Parts: sequence; structure tokens; C-alpha cells
Amino acid sequence: MDTFVIEGGHRLYGRVRINGSKNAALPMLAVCLLTDQPVILRDVPNLADIKNMLRLLGELGVVRTDAPGEPCDAPFTSGTIGLHVTDPSASHARYDIVRTMRASICTLGPMLAKRGFARISLPGGCSIGDRPVDLHLRGLRALGAQITLTEGDIIAKVPSGGLVGTTIFLGGAFGSTVLGTANVMCAAALAKGTTVIEQAACEPEIVDLANVLNAMGAKIHGAGGPRLIIEGVEQLGGAEHTVIPDRIEAGTFMMAAAMTNGDLILDNCPMDALLASTYVLNMAGVHVQPVAAVGALSAGSIPNNGPMASALARHRQSLLTAISGSAGVGEGMSRDGDPMRKSVRVTCERVLKPVEVTTQPHPGYPTDLQAQLVAMLCLADGNSVVTERIFPDRFLHVAELLRMGAKIARVGSTVVITGVKSLKGAPVMASDLRASAGLVLAGLAAEGTTIVNRIYHLDRGYERFEDRLRMLGANIQRVDEKELATQEA
Ligand code: EPZ
Repeated sequence: MDTFVIEGGHRLYGRVRINGSKNAALPMLAVCLLTDQPVILRDVPNLADIKNMLRLLGELGVVRTDAPGEPCDAPFTSGTIGLHVTDPSASHARYDIVRTMRASICTLGPMLAKRGFARISLPGGCSIGDRPVDLHLRGLRALGAQITLTEGDIIAKVPSGGLVGTTIFLGGAFGSTVLGTANVMCAAALAKGTTVIEQAACEPEIVDLANVLNAMGAKIHGAGGPRLIIEGVEQLGGAEHTVIPDRIEAGTFMMAAAMTNGDLILDNCPMDALLASTYVLNMAGVHVQPVAAVGALSAGSIPNNGPMASALARHRQSLLTAISGSAGVGEGMSRDGDPMRKSVRVTCERVLKPVEVTTQPHPGYPTDLQAQLVAMLCLADGNSVVTERIFPDRFLHVAELLRMGAKIARVGSTVVITGVKSLKGAPVMASDLRASAGLVLAGLAAEGTTIVNRIYHLDRGYERFEDRLRMLGANIQRVDEKELATQEA
């Protein structure tokens, strides 16, 4: 298994482009099951979860139009994937794929609506908590689906009259459900009549999914708000769509800049999807400004000497290029007019300030940036309080941060973080995708060497993370743990 070996203490400078969103792309890949036509998606991130989803779609009769004759999970270049259903006979999403990626559940709604039948393994829990799907099943049953649970599988059938639109309340004990909304929205798109989903998820990824469904001929209104109205249609066609940038990746890089007292430019940054996060970061003393606005802060504000001189010179140039607006507007590059694809500069005050934050469904502060925030607040000057309302047990990163000298006390779904002057490098264990991101950030800021084990968790959601951090000045290497053991022997 791979580990990251990080020498902390290097300030991050330079420019990085935010990739397409994993959590937008995963349900979007599944919409190809809703049509007989090809679907082309652009700016799809090259991640382990995406590969798993493509493997699953291959077993469900989907082929790649961008890689004819290749397996469905064949590598793809430039983020572009073409998908086309050529054999709709298979409708069983098997346990050994679903258990590796619970997002497989988002094939349920499309498969059921288009094929009239779906069998999918119940996704198990994971390290961030139980991951029930009762709300998904509530919504699909409301549309008329006949659903039974057999031997760990969900068996879903459409009655002879087909799915019929209705009004569905989809809220649960923890608020809305993102993939539950995706599943029910996809199924309702082909139901007879109109469906109203009350307490739908408002996440930007749901908006992006609604946009691609509407491009395929669906009639979905209200995406981004808690009430979705879906007028069912007879059939859907193909579409081409560019995936929105990944707000969680962007927030992670922002906190990397803050924790290393760096100065980063993020291109293709979905600022309009990060308002709660940038508000909290601003309260903590982190400044996130559209690059056009920093014109006044000329590049002269960057020191041009010291050990980072070459990185600073590179950064100075990238900042001047960005300010001059000649950053270019290629596919997926920043577009000043597009609030979901901005170029922003991230800097921070010398000392971070403590904050109090509670994670909420969007537009609240995202649970997927909680671990990274806890890592950052370990270095704030004072006591911070973070409460996790979505996955109350999502704190496996805390024990590992304590190994690095952090001062954190947990009471139920709340942690109190007492800032320390510095963290100390140590061997730590990644447990889930966002916890591993938090540990990497802590390693970048810590004094000494941090070894983050089981980095496969991180590869699920961050593409070439170590390469991109190294480009920004971090001292981080990916090492096979066996090789590390011999080095240490
Ligand atoms: C999506 O998961 C994201 N994954 C998660 O990101 C994210 O943390 C989560 O939404 C919340 O924002 C993808 O989009 C692939 P939920 P999802 O259904 O849809 C409870 C990452 O790190 N619930 O919105 O599975 C559930 O237990 C991943 O990128 C029910 O009770 O999450 C949780 O407490 C991790 N019954 C809350 O609702 C249900 O039927 C929100 O879950 C479904 C969910």
C-alpha cells in the first residue's frame, strides 16, 4: 500500500487548476443508463471512484465511445468520457463493486426507470458512519416501485403501469440526502406525470445533475432549492456536458495555503458553491479574493528572495498573468463571468483565528471540508468549536491529529480544538477520503516528517494530489510502505 512521506514547513506558492467534481461526476456517469443515446462528459476527474463507477457501468451494458473496444473502465485522457448503453439486459450491481464505493447506489434510480428492474447490493457502512438508503427507497416506492431486500440486495421492480409522479418528502433525521435526491430525480424524469420532491438536496452537484438531465430532454425545475418539480417525459436523449469544478478540492487547497502561510492562485474555482466555506475561512483570517480584484495588490507583495526564490518568481509570473487576464479561457479554465469558474488568490494572516462551525446540508458549511478545517484550526490562536451534523461520528482524523501534538477534545458530535504553536510530524493512519486530506494538510504544516499511511483513501477523491502539491513547493513523496520499511530498517 502507498504512503505519503511529507517534510513539513514549506510554504505553498503558485497556481493550481481545480479539477471537475468527483461528487458531480459520479451520479452524472449513471445518467447514461437513462437513454439509448451516447452521453459525453468533460472534465471528469481521473480518480479511483470514477474508475470503479466505470467498471460497474461496464457490467451494466455500457461501452465507452471515446475508447471503442476498450473496457468501460479503460483510462481516459483530457477528462473526456463518452458512454453508451449497448446491452440493457444486465441490471445487477454486484456486492464486490458496490462495497468498494457506496456511490454505486446512484445507478438504482436510472436503471429502475429505464429498464423496469434493478438489483443492487445494499451499500455497507463506512468509516464516517452508517450509510443507510432508506430515503432513497422511500422516494422510489412513492413513485410506485416495488422494492424488496433479499440476501443483502435491493430488488426493485416497476409495476406494469410504470412509475407515476407524486409528491415526496425526502428529508431524514440529518436533513436532505444528496444521492437520494439524485436517484429519485432520475427516476421521476421518466415517470408519468409530475413529481414534487420536498426537502431535496440543494448541493451544486444536484444542480449540475439536473442541468445534464435537462440537456437530455428532462423537465426539471427548482434545482438548487429544497423543492424540485420534475415533469416526467417519455424518453431522454444524449447530451454533452462539462462537469462543474470540485468545491471540496478547492476548499482543501485553500486550507493548504492557509496552513503553510502560502500564497496560491486557484483556477477554475467554483466560488459560487463555496460561500459558507469562504465565509468561515475569512473569519479565521484566510483571504480568498478574485484575482481581478487583487490587481491592486501587485505581484510586488511577494518576497523575491530566500530559499523559495525560484518558486516565488514562478508565482510572481503566474499572478501577473492572472491579473492581466491572459490566463486563457480554454476548456475548464477560469471564466471571469462564470461564478463557478473563477481564478482566486488565497493568502492568510500570519496567525489564524479560532472559529465556531457546524456542518450542514448545502448551502451550509460542508461536512466534506470538516476534517480539513479541524486540521487547520489546530494552528489557530485560541479555542475553536466544530460540530458535525451530517455524519456525527466523522472524527477518525482526530486521534491521528492528537499524535501530531494537536489539542482536541471530543464530546459527542462536537470537538473543541485548542490551537497550538505547531504540529509535530508523526506516522499517521488515513481512515477515509477527507480525513486523509486533513492529515496531509497537517503534515504540510508540521515540523519534521509525517508519514500518512493507507493513502489509497485519498486517491478516491484527489487526482495526483502529491504531484500538484509538489508543484506548489511542498516536500511530499509517494512511497510504497514496503520500500519505506526497508528504508527505515
Ligand atoms: C454525498 O453522500 C457525498 N458523496 C458525500 O461525500 C457527502 O459527505 C454527503 O453527500 C453529504 O454531503 C457523493 O456525492 C458521492 P447523504 P450521500 O445521503 O449522498 C443520512 C466525500 O467525501 N441518510 O446526503 O451518500 C446519512 O446517513 C463523500 O466525497 C439517511 O439517513 O450522503 C447522512 O447522515 C463522503 N438515509 C445524511 O443523511 C438515506 O437514505 C446525508 O447523507 C440517505 C442518507
